Amino acid sequence: MGRDGFSVVVPATTANLGPGFDSIGLALSLYMTVDVLPAEEWKVINEGDEYKSLPVGEENLIVKTILDVAARYKQISPPLQLTVKTDIPLGKGLGSSATAIAAGIVIADHLLELKLSLKEKVKIGSESEGHADNVSAALLGGVTVSYFNGEDIDVIHIKEPNIGAVILVPPNALRTEESRGLLPAKLDHAEGVLGSAASSVMTAAIAQDDWETAGWMMEKDIFHEAYRKQLFQEFDAIRKKCKDLGAYGMTISGAGPSLFIAVKQGDQANLAKTLAVAFPYYTAIAVSPSILGARVN
Ligand code: HSE
Repeated sequence: MGRDGFSVVVPATTANLGPGFDSIGLALSLYMTVDVLPAEEWKVINEGDEYKSLPVGEENLIVKTILDVAARYKQISPPLQLTVKTDIPLGKGLGSSATAIAAGIVIADHLLELKLSLKEKVKIGSESEGHADNVSAALLGGVTVSYFNGEDIDVIHIKEPNIGAVILVPPNALRTEESRGLLPAKLDHAEGVLGSAASSVMTAAIAQDDWETAGWMMEKDIFHEAYRKQLFQEFDAIRKKCKDLGAYGMTISGAGPSLFIAVKQGDQANLAKTLAVAFPYYTAIAVSPSILGARVN
């Protein structure tokens, strides 16, 4: 690395899209940029009010990931100064931790000239996160459909989803572990079969760019929505309003506490305005899919 360093850009993500629990991810047009410079010791400068409380040394998730990747490949990373600028809400179900992990992987890969394949990066990221949905989308962009059982991994990449999206972000943050703690340890077999069918039809519909069907299936999740719904103010009223406004579908963004609404491409700004007025508890953000995943700028 030269004295001028380099920058890495990583998109936010929404995970699950309803029934694609722990598997499907979609990259969104909100970004984290990390400016990387050589330094005497590890130092993270977190810009943005929400991020100011995050660790600034080796406990920082980006730094931990760089050190982990280096150790996996028996290398040593020199200390770095990382300046983190981001418009991704923190702890709001928009993949902020997966974004940090993806940034760490891409920084280590570039700095140490590891030449990791995308699949290797996704595997490292999924092992760090525990599931592949957000980190796959953060690394690849577009829609990703992942299988990860802790060991084997595969990812299908649907590169250019033809939708717009609105995110409704509440003021409170929610820890993923807390939200996962609401889920049952076991599911009824027949229910699981239906959940799998909803996920399969949704994925096939997305691959064919049939967002009417995908949006319908998005609302047929049985894996988590019913258990988490109680955390959301006005969940049913928002779903109904979205339907009335012609949205494709509305679901929980990742583990929450934000909501994700898939809409026709180009409709997102108007829908966000209407939803902001109807549900002022939430901040409505109009976004598009991010076609590009994590990259050195
Ligand atoms: N699939 C995860 C969950 C999303 O719903 O708990 C957070 O990565």
